[in-house]
Amino acid sequence: MKLSKLIHRISGEGAEAWEIHTLAQRAAANGEDVIVLSIGDPDFATPAPIIDRAVEALQSGDTHYAAVPGRDQLRQAIADDFQQRTGVPTDIENVFVFAGTQNALFAASLILLDEDDEVIVLEPMYVTYEAVLRIGGATMVPVAQPADNGFRPDIELIKAAITDKTKAIVITTPNNPTGVVLSRQELSDIAALAIKHDLWVISDEVYTDLIFEGEHISMASLPGMAERTITVNSLSKSHAMTGWRTGWTIGPKALCPHYDNLALCMLYGLPGFVQEAAITALTDQRDASLAMRDIYQRRRDLVCAELAKASHLPVLKSQAAMYVMVDVRHYYDNAKDFSRDLYQQKGVSVLDAGAFGKSARGWVRLCFTLDEDSLVEGCKRIVEFLHAHEQ
Ligand SMILES: Cc1ncc(COP(=O)(O)O)c(C=O)c1O
Repeated sequence: MKLSKLIHRISGEGAEAWEIHTLAQRAAANGEDVIVLSIGDPDFATPAPIIDRAVEALQSGDTHYAAVPGRDQLRQAIADDFQQRTGVPTDIENVFVFAGTQNALFAASLILLDEDDEVIVLEPMYVTYEAVLRIGGATMVPVAQPADNGFRPDIELIKAAITDKTKAIVITTPNNPTGVVLSRQELSDIAALAIKHDLWVISDEVYTDLIFEGEHISMASLPGMAERTITVNSLSKSHAMTGWRTGWTIGPKALCPHYDNLALCMLYGLPGFVQEAAITALTDQRDASLAMRDIYQRRRDLVCAELAKASHLPVLKSQAAMYVMVDVRHYYDNAKDFSRDLYQQKGVSVLDAGAFGKSARGWVRLCFTLDEDSLVEGCKRIVEFLHAHEQ
C-alpha cells in the first residue's frame, strides 16, 4: 500500500541524536544509575493554582468543545501580556491559540509557505523545524550562526542566502540549544532585510521568560515589523506546562480566518479546562515563573563552574533557557561518539548538538532540568570521563 509523499518531508535527520536519550530514559525508568541531561522538559511541577483551576473547571463540567481560536478571555490575557511586554498594540484578533509552540509553528508554516518558497532558518535550530517548515513543500535554507561567532547571527550570511524565492526567515530568541538572546542590533539587521525583501519573520520566543542575561526584544516590536512577524510562544517552559500543550501565535489580524479554517480541521480548539488553567497562569502566576527562572540561573552557573574543572572543555555560558553548550572537539572528532562513550562509561546522557544544525557539530547540549545534586554528580562524571580519556 502506498503512503503520501509527505512522509518523507516529516522525517528529519535529527532522529539519531535521540538514541542515547531514549536509552537513558528507559534505564532511568528501570531505576538504573543514570543521569539524564538530554531533555528540555522542566523538572518543576506546574504551579498548584494552575492545576487547581483546571480541576475546578473539569469538575464544573468544562469538558466540551471549546472556542476554536481560543476563549476570548485567554486570547485577551495573551494579548495583554504581549502588549505590556513589547508595546505592540495587540488585541484578541491578533492572537490564535494552538496546542503548544510546536502546533503554532506548524500552523504558521502551512499558512505562509508554498511549494516553491524558500524559508531561511538560523541554525543551530530546534530539531522539529525541518519537518515543520518542509511540511507544505517549501525548501528550508539553514543559515549558520557560527560557533566561532558565539552562535550569533552573521548578517552577511543571511543576506547571501536570500533569493527571489525567499518568503520568510525563522528566528529563535532565546535559542535552543545555544541559549543565545538576540540583541536589538542583530534583530534590527534582520528586520531591515525582511523589510527590504518583503519577507515574513516567524519568531519563536518560547524561552522569553527564562532569560538570565540580556533583554528579550520581540521582533514584532521593531518598526515596521508587527505586520510581517508571527510570534509563537507557549506556557511550556515559562510555567513548567509542557504537557498542557498550550501555545499561540500573535500576528496580523488578517491571518486569523486562515488559522481558523486550519484549526477547524486539525485541532478544533484546546480543551476548555486547559484554557482556564492557562488564563490563571498568565494573569496570576508570573511570580512562580520568575522563581523557576532564578533556579535555572543558579543551575546554569553551577554546571558551568563544575565543567570548568575539565582541562579543555569550552562551555558557552547560556544567556537564557535551560541548556549549556559544550565544545568536545579537543577530545573527540565527533560529538555523537562522545555522547555514546560518555553514556556507556558513566551513565550520563547528553545530546549531540549536531542534531540542531551543522554549526553545532562537535558540541553537545546539556540540559539543567535536574536538581543541583544530580547536576553536580553528572558534571563530575563528565570531568572524570574526560580525564580518563586523556590518559
Ligand atoms: C525553540 C523551541 N521551540 C518550540 C518548542 C516546542 O514547545 P511547545 O512545548 O510549546 O510546543 C521547543 C521545545 O523544546 C523549543 O525548544
